[in-house]
Amino acid sequence: MAGLITMDDLTNEQIINILDDATRLLPVAKGKLFLPLLQGRILGNLFFEPSTRTRMSFETAMKRLGGEVVNLGDIKNSSVVKGETLFDTIQMVDGYTDIIAMRHPRQGAAQYAQDSARVPIMNGGDGAGHHPTQTMLDLFTIRQAHGTLEGLKVVLAGDLRYGRTVHSLSHALTRFGCELIFASPELLKMPTEIVSDLRENGANVIETEDLLGSINDADVVYMTRIQKERFADEDEYSRCAGAYRLHADNLADVKSEMIIMHPLPRVDEIHASVDSTRHACYFNQAFNGVVARMALICYLLGVTVPIDVESEGGAL
Ligand code: CP
Repeated sequence: MAGLITMDDLTNEQIINILDDATRLLPVAKGKLFLPLLQGRILGNLFFEPSTRTRMSFETAMKRLGGEVVNLGDIKNSSVVKGETLFDTIQMVDGYTDIIAMRHPRQGAAQYAQDSARVPIMNGGDGAGHHPTQTMLDLFTIRQAHGTLEGLKVVLAGDLRYGRTVHSLSHALTRFGCELIFASPELLKMPTEIVSDLRENGANVIETEDLLGSINDADVVYMTRIQKERFADEDEYSRCAGAYRLHADNLADVKSEMIIMHPLPRVDEIHASVDSTRHACYFNQAFNGVVARMALICYLLGVTVPIDVESEGGAL
């Protein structure tokens, strides 16, 4: 059964349908209604790299819809430390579960897992490759704020070289006709093959090192952490650490409806002074991981989200 490995696995129409389902599921995600659409289904959480939001929001999504979750848990307590291969691990979990969420440090690992799995694999991040389930919640958040995904001006800033969230998101935004401004230090530029691919697909892409000069006419500013763990050379990391630090004082002339997003965790790229501004959207964005993943799991398992969730759902 097909899963979600990159955003190429979904058409624009499918994306919009999933976002519409997610919108209707908001009261369930907030715990105001119980709707056991996934009763009897089991999600396998396989996280070979650290995660807070992706792992926990998948788990919350499943449980809010009446499903169950089994976790690989800490790798140190799994048979991975005895030398079990990813292939063999997938063969086991494939038999234990109905759908798998997986994060792995190796780019391409999610596709490798899907190639030998019976159940859908949801790529929760494969090295510096893709993070499409994050893109689904990012698109949900952008549409929630602006009412549309079409034709927005989006600044993607920080570590565009290793940041898998911005790789997946920039592909999706291009398909909805957004203008993209890539703001990064030279060392952390978006890979040239991705920029070329986006341009071949009609994207209007501007590359700059000047973040503050780019934000005043933006609809969305998407900040990212510099991915220290992906640098082979510590000195190279030190040269770009702290390159961008967005402070509330920098927001005086931005559009009133502009939103600041971040996949989190943040380090120092968004100062705490931004949190209380009308532009800060990152904690709501993290919450949206629950509702976007609820709708995605339903879609991949062929479970229909009712049109009238309010009347189908029961009290908790
Ligand atoms: N956004 C995100 O992937 O966060 P985690 O690393 O905590 O899952």
